[in-house]
Amino acid sequence: MDQKDSARRWGAAVSEKFRAKLSAVRERSAEKIPARAVNGVHDDRGDGGDYTPDNGLCWWTNGFWAGMMWQMYRDTGDERYAQIARRTEHRLDACFESFLGLHHDVGFMWLPSAVADWRLTGSADSRRRGLHAAGLLAGRFNPAGFIRAWNDSYGKDTRGWAIIDCMLNLSLLYWASEETKDPRFRHMAEIHADTVRKNFVRPDGSVRHIVEFDPETGAFVRDYGGQGLARGSAWTRGQSWGLYGFANSFRHTGRRDYLETSCKIADYFIAHIPEDGKIPVDFDQPAQPAWRDDIAAAAASGGLIELARTVPEKSEEYLAAALKMLRALDATADWNPETDGILRDCSADYHGSEHNVNFVYGDYFFLEAVLKLKGTELFIW
Ligand code: GLY
Repeated sequence: MDQKDSARRWGAAVSEKFRAKLSAVRERSAEKIPARAVNGVHDDRGDGGDYTPDNGLCWWTNGFWAGMMWQMYRDTGDERYAQIARRTEHRLDACFESFLGLHHDVGFMWLPSAVADWRLTGSADSRRRGLHAAGLLAGRFNPAGFIRAWNDSYGKDTRGWAIIDCMLNLSLLYWASEETKDPRFRHMAEIHADTVRKNFVRPDGSVRHIVEFDPETGAFVRDYGGQGLARGSAWTRGQSWGLYGFANSFRHTGRRDYLETSCKIADYFIAHIPEDGKIPVDFDQPAQPAWRDDIAAAAASGGLIELARTVPEKSEEYLAAALKMLRALDATADWNPETDGILRDCSADYHGSEHNVNFVYGDYFFLEAVLKLKGTELFIW
């Protein structure tokens, strides 16, 4: 059996574990929009009339529960998954109304929810929601050359801040151009991606998390370590966003420089995967404490599978690296159908207090990567 066949078989076997687990979890969490499981129970960010982006309904990961449900619907054809996904999609409409506080993560919110629905069902309402979100992301584009990441908070002036995570949000702009045949959205995405290539990607293939530009001129001001260990270090989830994001930018534009950039980040990432396949929060972190980030592993695996499909001469290497990380996730995951979370070793950031915990967006990227191996995934990015 060749490597691709065995990867497909392995993906099919693990997808059975997702089926067993999620057919139980979905019923317990059907009325929630979970961001994480705490002590095995999903929280609910859709509860209580709290429309804040910091914690409430407009929290940036609130599209991923729907994304999991749509991926499962695509894999199983079971209508119950679609019903639950649509509940989140409809609830998120209130975020369009509250508006203040929405930021560049509208791609993470509406690609796996509304745009996924549109892709599977052709729903006109879902298309409208996706285009609305794309308009909001386009509204954050600074013609000086970048998409602004966050809004000002904690007294910080962030008018000039762009972050590597936005590479995944760009897919919303590419989709809007493909859907409307209006190139404006794609132009913005490409200008932003060009700025990231030039200012975020280091000569060794690692990427920065945050870069501040002069909001008037677009000139580079400085970079920040962000969620990683320190300025100059390699926050692993940021490496994953860069790797996967440039692979997606190639897919939507056909530009070889984007593909080369994705491969460069991938080569750096692969050279740093530890023997046990478990990814640290930052590739430059000290040996202790041994904090991990399963989300970085899951998202990088999705990007590597994408590259394996695209670059025949490196296909085996990329697939092997993805499999190594995914096998490690499978071995340490919580497959008990009586608990809600799957990945156990996620971290919000290096210096914060949330380590070795569950986050739903990690579970989403793990599911997506497994279904990519199996060949039954829904295309989202
Ligand atoms: N996009 C924020 C994060 O990856 O934590």
